[in-house]
Amino acid sequence: MTDHDVRPLAETEYRDAHTLFMAALHRPPATEGDWPALVARYETGRVWGDFLGDELAGTTTSLPSSLSVPGGAVLPAAAVTGVGVRADRTRRGVLTSMMRSQLEDVRERGEPLAMLHASETGIYGRFGYGVASRTRTVSLDTHRAILAPTAPSGGDVRLLGVAEARKILPEIYERIGAARPGAIARTPGWWDTRLLTGAEGEQLRVAVHSDADGIDDGFALWNTRINDHRFDNGVCTLQVSDLRGGDAAAAVGLWRFLLNLDLANVILAADRPLDEPLEWWLADSRQCRVRGVHDDLWLRLVDVPTALAARAYGAAEPVVVEVRDAFLPSNSGCYRLAPEGARRCEDRPQLTVDADMLGALYLGDVSVATLAAANRVTVHDDAAVETADRLLATSGVPWCGTGF
Ligand SMILES: CC(C)(COP(=O)(O)OP(=O)(O)OC[C@H]1O[C@@H](n2cnc3c(N)ncnc32)[C@H](O)[C@@H]1OP(=O)(O)O)[C@@H](O)C(=O)NCCC(=O)NCCS
Repeated sequence: MTDHDVRPLAETEYRDAHTLFMAALHRPPATEGDWPALVARYETGRVWGDFLGDELAGTTTSLPSSLSVPGGAVLPAAAVTGVGVRADRTRRGVLTSMMRSQLEDVRERGEPLAMLHASETGIYGRFGYGVASRTRTVSLDTHRAILAPTAPSGGDVRLLGVAEARKILPEIYERIGAARPGAIARTPGWWDTRLLTGAEGEQLRVAVHSDADGIDDGFALWNTRINDHRFDNGVCTLQVSDLRGGDAAAAVGLWRFLLNLDLANVILAADRPLDEPLEWWLADSRQCRVRGVHDDLWLRLVDVPTALAARAYGAAEPVVVEVRDAFLPSNSGCYRLAPEGARRCEDRPQLTVDADMLGALYLGDVSVATLAAANRVTVHDDAAVETADRLLATSGVPWCGTGF
């Protein structure tokens, strides 16, 4: 058996690692033009490679970020990305070796959480990641989807070029979006990559909403796809990749703007929060067609005591939860969850969860009752299911909606 040599890569090796990752996703290497913005996000010591012999066989990266958790705390979180193994070196433990080194590194950096978006659902559960938030994709026929008279009216919307958007969108996001559970930090490097790189010819459009006082409080990003340049019988689709409003009026203002755009006949909006009241803003709720519900953020509690202590709990009797963490065994043990906080304890467990299910429960996206019904939570005390749900309940649905 070949030995795995997992180590942080030198800067001179980043390009090869990125090309390997892109190839694993069946994509071409980054262009010369895009590479400076992409590599600027890398941080020394956080780009990993696994060498089999002298060959780079796989890579993974983590970017320093943060995550808003229930109760309002913002915790340091490693944003794991760039995960790929050479197609001719898969299924021989390369990913497993890299995940182990990466998670140990994240813990040593004092980041209690790691998070990612998964290409496939079968990959990351074994490493302790669970689906912590979900999004939906919706489509609307712009001629039939009419906003109801009761929908908030919204304010002024103006178009921006990407260079100007790069200057003002980060501040708007920080002010209106970053506090919701599931929201992550969008770093300057993230914005550079999002707004200033992309396949040639892709034209990203940006609109900003401002309220009655002229304060910018929302934005939308989209690309347009047209299959008939005469605008005759074809389809002109606005592919909305990001739409954020500080309140309902701002969000509806942006939706109204998009629905009224000349020549467009379909809006396809991805990564929308599950609780967006689009059906209720429309005169005919069926015109909001849900095309799919997808896993959004996968979350891994790297330092379980710290992460559990950092989030808020609802009013209920304490519950003792046993955590089983085969991949990071020092997390294993019993934790007492109570309105005043969470701490390790030696009490008899009422519920037992594996690390991936703890990640799924942490932001409040799924209930203990649901996971118990799926045998993903082991129940030793039936009454603890409902009590734990009251402790873990959150007022809103978590939403990340930020790719990385
Ligand atoms: C997914 C990927 C990184 C896995 O790498 P790998 O080195 O083959 O993984 P390992 O050999 O460490 O596999 C560990 C375990 O996970 C399982 N596994 C790996 N990839 C899997 C997948 N895509 N679906 C289901 N199970 C998978 C393996 O069968 C193995 O199971 P076992 O421990 O029961 O034997 C690799 O296949 C790849 O690069 N895929 C394409 C790019 C991609 O999807 N990257 C992830 C982006 S989020």
